[in-house]
Amino acid sequence: MKALESKTALVTGSTQGIGLAIAERFAKEGARVVLNGRHTDDEKTRQAVQAAQTAGGSADAIHYIAADLSNTADAQRLVRDAIAHFGQLDILVNNAGVETRAAFEDVTEADYDRVLELNLKGIFFTTQTFVQHLRSTKRSGKIINISSVHEEVAFPHFAAYCASKGGLKMLMRDLAVELGPEGITVNNIAPGAIETPINTALLHDEAKLASLRANIPLGRLGKPEDVAAAALFLASADADYVTGASLVVDGGLMRNYHEQ
Ligand code: BGC
Repeated sequence: MKALESKTALVTGSTQGIGLAIAERFAKEGARVVLNGRHTDDEKTRQAVQAAQTAGGSADAIHYIAADLSNTADAQRLVRDAIAHFGQLDILVNNAGVETRAAFEDVTEADYDRVLELNLKGIFFTTQTFVQHLRSTKRSGKIINISSVHEEVAFPHFAAYCASKGGLKMLMRDLAVELGPEGITVNNIAPGAIETPINTALLHDEAKLASLRANIPLGRLGKPEDVAAAALFLASADADYVTGASLVVDGGLMRNYHEQ
């Protein structure tokens, strides 16, 4: 039996990067997966849906819903539509996120809102709607937040991002305690430097890349698949007794971090 047979998962921000790798991996392991992005019918979205369908071997097991999670009503609608489509939801992966780089004194209110509204408020209300569904249907469930090593270590020039990830760490710990009695597990994955679009500028800067690699004990950046493997574990029955944890997937970077 495949690890996620008969399970349904919603993965936010899954048209690229870590989210897409998780959607593909979950589909491969037998789950029905709802993908999400902000756009309705662009090329990137079509390719992502196609990739997940290929990974799972079934077009019917994949469904796409456009929603902007920085808008609370949209976040709630996403969860409700996902449940309506497949009739149930067992796993929520809160992956959608954004970062902006600026010296602290230059951060605008708009930048701050963009980061916090998606990375923290969006996750808060997406999760709340999912938990309401689990409660009303008396089901257990699994919540996995894609956080960052920066829920723990400083990242100068990314103050709003660090605030959002630090907040996400405490949200996860708090909900693990509050929801544990209902059989709902809540965990974070804390990726380090992963080869994804969020790191496009870095990936094109050879000098920065070389010094970053030198800081990573395993000597390479991570791949989205490295994070997807951790998400599969946390979503599977193998992790039934794991809650309130941050699983660091960073090649050792957190233990050896220096800002450039
Ligand atoms: C950030 C990346 C950064 C990595 C390691 C991630 O959370 O999104 O921009 O390279 O942490 O510092």
